[in-house]
Amino acid sequence: MKFARVCVALGAAAGALAAAVEASSSAGSTFTYEVVTGIFKQDDPTIPPAEIGATPASFGLIDESPLRWLKLKAKILSLNLFAPRNTQYKLLFLGRHGEGWHNVAEAFYGTPAWDETWSKLDGNGTIVWGPDAQLTPLGEAQAANVTLLWEKELQAGIPIPEILYSSPMSRAAKTARISFEWLWKTGKRALILENFREVIGVHTCDERKTKTYIREQFGDIMNIERGFTEQDELWTADHRETNDEQNVRLKKALDFVFSHGGTYVSVTAHSGALNAAFRVMGHRDYSIPTGGVVPVLLKAIKA
Ligand SMILES: *[C@@H]1O[C@H](CO)[C@@H](O)[C@H](O)[C@H]1NC(C)=O
Ligand SMILES: *[C@@H]1O[C@H](CO)[C@@H](O)[C@H](O)[C@H]1NC(C)=O
Repeated sequence: MKFARVCVALGAAAGALAAAVEASSSAGSTFTYEVVTGIFKQDDPTIPPAEIGATPASFGLIDESPLRWLKLKAKILSLNLFAPRNTQYKLLFLGRHGEGWHNVAEAFYGTPAWDETWSKLDGNGTIVWGPDAQLTPLGEAQAANVTLLWEKELQAGIPIPEILYSSPMSRAAKTARISFEWLWKTGKRALILENFREVIGVHTCDERKTKTYIREQFGDIMNIERGFTEQDELWTADHRETNDEQNVRLKKALDFVFSHGGTYVSVTAHSGALNAAFRVMGHRDYSIPTGGVVPVLLKAIKA
């Protein structure tokens, strides 16, 4: 099959290119970003997110043909091959954690009362949402739904994430654990990055646990980035990060991703954190439902 041979040739060339890119990248690089649109329903501003849902068929890929993922892989390989030296493309699968107890409480009390009063408490006597809100049983079922979608698309040649990142919050890491069980079995590990955590401060659900706790819970499948502090030194009860502060932090997270290897990357994080990432990318506003995944073909130009 001619097409397959072209793909293999492109793959080998792109592998060499990826190695060159990796060797020339330093962790301190900074990039400007641009979304390549017209690939996924989620990047089309004319399609309402509610119509797309958390886990649309083929993760929202517009091309529905049997060769859809092979065609996309060939496109990304050739984009990277013919890109100028300072430019690279990655396909990011951006996942929001499944439903957590803080989501239940916010829905129960309404956002104004949640923000004003309840978010500052650890719970209400019946349920607990802080510190570090955990997944509900529904949240775990939503994460399992993501697995089903991967299993289905793997048969159609979806690229397997080469690098996986997770927020250090339990609800995100647990979602990644459930969603990628099939990948951990192969020995793959994720990396926990502090900068992928949810909006910091005031809300108890967004205060993280210690490094020791996170290692105990997720050390079997995840590494923790260098420099990660034992205690949560960023969360305070009296300041909630502004949008500008979130933008700076999520840009650092994206810069880290683009300073490291892998063309196909998974990130499991949060709605607020990913909204900030969307602002940095110039992606349309997109509120990801709990347990939702938004793929983005992202172009990065090194400054
Ligand atoms: C606490 O919140 C949950 C839902 O978030 C609700 O079902 C429960 O009744 C609340 N408990 C109290 C004591 O108000
Ligand atoms: C799982 O996905 C199916 C099909 O997309 C959907 O109907 C169902 O509600 C989902 N279940 C959960 C728990 O999200």
